[in-house]
Amino acid sequence: MNFDLSEEHLMIQKAARDFAQNELKPGVIERDEHQKFPSEQIRKMGELGFLGMMVDPKYGGGGMDTVSYVLAMEEISKVDASASVVMSVNNSLVCWGLENYGSESQKQKYLVPLAKGEIIGAFCLSEPEAGSDATSQHTTAIDAGDHYILNGTKNWITNGSTASVYLVIAQTDVAKGHKGINALIVEKGMPGFTIGPKENKLGIRGSDTHSLMFTDVKVPKANRIGEDGFGFKFAMKTLTGGRIGIASQALGIAAGAYELALQYSKERKAFGVPISQHQAIQFKLADMATEIEAARLLCYKAAWMKDQNLDYGLSSSMAKLFASRVAMETTVEAVQVHGGYGFVKEFHVERLMRDAKITQIYEGTSEVQKIVISRSILGK
Ligand code: CAA
Repeated sequence: MNFDLSEEHLMIQKAARDFAQNELKPGVIERDEHQKFPSEQIRKMGELGFLGMMVDPKYGGGGMDTVSYVLAMEEISKVDASASVVMSVNNSLVCWGLENYGSESQKQKYLVPLAKGEIIGAFCLSEPEAGSDATSQHTTAIDAGDHYILNGTKNWITNGSTASVYLVIAQTDVAKGHKGINALIVEKGMPGFTIGPKENKLGIRGSDTHSLMFTDVKVPKANRIGEDGFGFKFAMKTLTGGRIGIASQALGIAAGAYELALQYSKERKAFGVPISQHQAIQFKLADMATEIEAARLLCYKAAWMKDQNLDYGLSSSMAKLFASRVAMETTVEAVQVHGGYGFVKEFHVERLMRDAKITQIYEGTSEVQKIVISRSILGK
């Protein structure tokens, strides 16, 4: 067993860290405050290759492994979780899904610009009445010969208004249950496709989250991903990898808050000494560092298993369940270490605490991860 990162991994980690500090940190408080999408920063991330990291270079990607992606996600998320969710959805859900299950013409038309970061994508599974219960799709894609007629509403869609390409999961044949579900590629601007208002969120406020409405949208059959009825499995397989991305986002949020708390504890004096010399603070820092390290190891293991083509479903759910819990607990403690300063925006930790919460909710709640884990342990 070898825990060393390669030279290439270290280079990617440094590039992501530098980008986060130099390009994302300035303005992150204002973007959060005003719910401003980091357009310019995402454009630069695309140019640097952060939006299609794992895609084969022949489709415009970076050809990197999942460990590299986890390292970059951690560094970006330490500073700006709104930017990192865009990165995660584009890499893990949209690009990965298209590269692994799309047709050659779909890859040429959609994957190449997505992997180059020229456009971004969205993954549309959740509905007003289908969140954790993802088989209960009410959005319909009725077979009409050479195309589908798409009707329904999708909720909580990351990149809802900024995406150009949407992977939409919809029910074609109700009688077949989850085996009657398809995944369709929908383009912004297709007649009948409208975007609802932006959600006013607790955290990741720089990212744009919207409802999407589809009214008699004609989607060519050529835009279906995989065989007829493959849509639910497509969604589950894609989310299994996506959970590694969100686990590393949670890891980054936790590590970012910890680093700020550590630094602050060395500078802030109380009772005549830096607060880091008080055992109450030392114990908090020791707990944070240990839990973050455990979360990091789970993230690395899940990524490594994916890179080895091993079954990584259990590992990705464990990584997400644990890292998101660590993100929540660590950010609360980081605010506590900062005292009153932790409660104001200039010190960043209150934002990280708000951002942490979503990692326990999206791409499968913590309860969904426990379902996946317990089924793996016990059998379904
Ligand atoms: N890989 C491949 N196939 C899978 C799978 C996986 N990981 N998980 C399930 N399947 C297959 C099953 O094998 C089964 O197929 P068969 O009938 O052929 O055997 C089929 O899918 C149905 O599986 P289940 O019976 O296990 O389904 P279920 O209804 O019991 O639900 C669940 C399982 C784990 C709760 C699932 O519904 C789930 O993951 N829900 C959460 C959905 C989710 O993560 N939503 C996130 C939205 S996207 C998002 O958040 C993006 C963003 O904005 C950041």
